[in-house]
Amino acid sequence: MTIMRLLLVLSLLCPLVSGYSERDRAHDLMSKYPLIDGHNDLALQLRILHNNRLSQIDLHNVSKVATDITRLQAGHVQAQMFAVYVMCGAQEKDAVRLTLEQIDVVRRMCTEYQDFELVTSAQELKTSQMRHKIACLISIEGGHSIDSSLPALRMFYQLGVRSMALTHTCNTPWAESSSKVYNVYQRHNNSLTHFGKAVVEEMNRLGMIVDLSHTSWDTAGAVLKHSKAPIIFSHSSSHSICNHSRNVPDWLLQELKKNRGLIMVNLHNNFISCRDDANISHVADHFDHIKNVIGAELLGIGGDFEGAISFPQGLEDVSKYPALIQELLQRNWTENDLADVLRRNFLRVFEEVEMVRDNLREKMPSEVQIPIKEVQNPCRLVLRPPDRRGLPSDQTPSSRADQRPTDLIILALVLLLQRLLKME
Ligand SMILES: *[C@@H]1O[C@H](CO)[C@@H](O)[C@H](O)[C@H]1NC(C)=O
Ligand SMILES: *[C@@H]1O[C@H](CO)[C@@H](O)[C@H](O)[C@H]1NC(C)=O
Ligand SMILES: *[C@@H]1O[C@H](CO)[C@@H](O)[C@H](O)[C@H]1NC(C)=O
Ligand SMILES: *[C@@H]1O[C@H](CO)[C@@H](O)[C@H](O)[C@H]1NC(C)=O
Ligand SMILES: *[C@@H]1O[C@H](CO)[C@@H](O)[C@H](O)[C@H]1NC(C)=O
Ligand SMILES: [Zn+2]
Repeated sequence: MTIMRLLLVLSLLCPLVSGYSERDRAHDLMSKYPLIDGHNDLALQLRILHNNRLSQIDLHNVSKVATDITRLQAGHVQAQMFAVYVMCGAQEKDAVRLTLEQIDVVRRMCTEYQDFELVTSAQELKTSQMRHKIACLISIEGGHSIDSSLPALRMFYQLGVRSMALTHTCNTPWAESSSKVYNVYQRHNNSLTHFGKAVVEEMNRLGMIVDLSHTSWDTAGAVLKHSKAPIIFSHSSSHSICNHSRNVPDWLLQELKKNRGLIMVNLHNNFISCRDDANISHVADHFDHIKNVIGAELLGIGGDFEGAISFPQGLEDVSKYPALIQELLQRNWTENDLADVLRRNFLRVFEEVEMVRDNLREKMPSEVQIPIKEVQNPCRLVLRPPDRRGLPSDQTPSSRADQRPTDLIILALVLLLQRLLKME
């Protein structure tokens, strides 16, 4: 009787016990291979909620957001690409200043807190794991941030930017967005212009990772053909599972495979289930599908926390990543596959991007400039030599030339008058 009861209790406990062990397995695996996440918009929320005043908050525990140091540590997030995103409305206005301010806030955050560390190379990223730091990588989200200027791109690299998404929801004068929200710079058959190719080449030369999340498929295809280095989709999911325009179709995954790039799955409900709600099974379906199409060696995770609005049940903030790994373990993913997905794939891509940079070290900085007719707008000053006579600079030389004879005639009249007066 007692034995029967014991057996009954054991049989009831069994699923529970095995459940715990899967959970422990996920945590153990993530302790060994902590996550490098491809996309997080905390800096945008710092701007919106706190006007970038870091002194007003404690980053260990931030309310109204899904990301802070406590939860990053609980979720085994060892490295985070922080987006320095500025609204498309700033295109042709103050996008460059706003981007600088977002870089400043990420750099402050990652130097003023001991738990963070700003990294700019694959080697520094690896070292930061041994130092038990959360590595910060800076990535620009949208080519409008460089205002069609390769020198601006190079200066952003100097400030620590190691990745740039070529577009956000707006087209740039040189690349096309997946979104049709803004109709400026609408493309017809030229999804990557001559200048767009120069941007990709310069990013290859600098060792900056090209990010194709948010570009149109045509632009992505053109870049995949043109780039010498592997590219990433830092936060996009599978179009076969949810046919959102932000997701990647299978034919493009095949191109990505040829390029040895990386797709980091976005967790936003609308991209996962094409609905406003989703759960972990829906997310795992994206992983299963992409693995079936191109293998686990090209997969990663780019949560998109703080950038998107709604997240799947069980994945509501950055502390919940182990639940996703647990689900994939339950779907018989190997620990080797998951170690790749969690961090080794990203490190491989970053190292290959650096290798391409090293191979191009003889190449001079590009002096390609965008044709002025492609960027005509009132905020773009066209430099002219200063006027020696101190006239307002908006007066054209021809209008000044027109004035000169009149001036001379007046002068002659005055002299004549003086003479006449003296003669009297
Ligand atoms: C975070 O702060 C809130 C109040 O703002 C507090 O209720 C909560 O316990 C804190 N959490 C941690 C982990 O310190
Ligand atoms: C692009 O379209 C323009 C105008 O429709 C056309 O003149 C040009 O030949 C096209 N270029 C290509 C590469 O198809
Ligand atoms: C996406 O798929 C749904 C059905 O699953 C279909 O109704 C819809 O038209 C599709 N949208 C696009 C843009 O293909
Ligand atoms: C997720 O939702 C689907 C229905 O859309 C359901 O079949 C599935 O069991 C759910 N998975 C979990 C883990 O809740
Ligand atoms: C995982 O593997 C086990 C044992 O081989 C099998 O019984 C189970 O059906 C598999 N699960 C999935 C989701 O493939
Ligand atoms: Zn985004």
